[in-house]
Amino acid sequence: MFNLFEKRVDLRIDLDTRCNFKCRYCDNSDLPISSKVSIPINEIVTLFQNAEKKCWSLFLSCAGEPLLNPQLEQILNSLSINVKTPDVSMVTNGLLLNQANRKIILDSSIDRIFVSMDSLSPEIYTSWCGVSTTQFQKVFDSIEAFAEERLLSKKPPHLIVTAIAMKDTLDGLPEIARWLKKIKASAFNIQWLNHMGHEDLKQQQLSLEDPLVLKKVKQVLEEVADILKGSGVLLDYPRTISKEKIWSVFQNSKLWRNRFYYFRDAVSKWTASRRHLPCRFVTNTYYLWPDGHLKGCPADAIETENIFNGNSSLEKEIVKVEQFFSKKDNTLDACRDCPINS
Ligand SMILES: C[S@@+](CC[C@H](N)C(=O)[O-])C[C@H]1O[C@@H](n2cnc3c(N)ncnc32)[C@H](O)[C@@H]1O
Ligand code: SF4
Repeated sequence: MFNLFEKRVDLRIDLDTRCNFKCRYCDNSDLPISSKVSIPINEIVTLFQNAEKKCWSLFLSCAGEPLLNPQLEQILNSLSINVKTPDVSMVTNGLLLNQANRKIILDSSIDRIFVSMDSLSPEIYTSWCGVSTTQFQKVFDSIEAFAEERLLSKKPPHLIVTAIAMKDTLDGLPEIARWLKKIKASAFNIQWLNHMGHEDLKQQQLSLEDPLVLKKVKQVLEEVADILKGSGVLLDYPRTISKEKIWSVFQNSKLWRNRFYYFRDAVSKWTASRRHLPCRFVTNTYYLWPDGHLKGCPADAIETENIFNGNSSLEKEIVKVEQFFSKKDNTLDACRDCPINS
């Protein structure tokens, strides 16, 4: 039976940390070559069985391109057999969303596919993602084909298109919304550019403290909302505590399994951030690299053993991290520098 208290973890698993894009805003290219690998197929069954016990949400990508994994079909077959209760999502750049991979995904138990599409302008897209115009067209056509095939499928996964809002892409967001309405996508997810400490990215950020920028951003988001109104395509607003964001979270919860957990996590993160509580009250999100390294917190401050080394497992390491978070005097040096604690 689904145990409400046993499943606490939101796990991000990188099926592959390699990537076939070179997006200017992404830190994938900073990863050392040695960590650019596919997850080992012989670990998948145990991993998914453990995830079924401990997780309420699974994301099958975070730092790389999941469709590059050469054993995608076996992995997704194993997912369908071993993972029954968590909400399963995958984020892809869409370049390998070809006919064969679309079928593998549509036959799998994935609940939500997020495809990143920051702009429908080939110039802007290619300049930010480091790919050719032909590749842009391939992504565009694959999303359209997926949208069509999904509607014919018995248990269609939700199709969510994600765009990064920044100076170069802001004006193009309404055009993406019109397209998503045409292809009957499930939702349009807009997120702010994270500058990750890079000066050139800071220049591209939309500084909402500037009243003129704020006015323009509000106008564009209103236009997007008007286009999508009544179309069945949900708008997921970028993260800000405003009534539009809160309303869009409620609306988008139609696309979630395990809503209880989403709301529990959202409420605990929000209250913790308002009260400046230390991170042990905040995080239940874990990141698993394909080499078996489990990050129990964003700063990777908690020591964990490699879960693929034969002596440990996802379940054991999660227990270790939870014991750390349950301590009252969390005084690791790394915690003082952690962005969540600042
Ligand atoms: C890191 S990618 C991994 C999955 C896949 N390769 C993709 O691009 O969809 C996951 C998401 O993070 C977003 N992302 C990457 N760098 C970002 C940044 N600096 N600011 C905001 N979003 C970013 C991407 O646009 C993508 O939607
Ligand atoms: S496609 Fe995804 S992982 Fe690859 S560089 Fe772009 S954002 Fe990063």
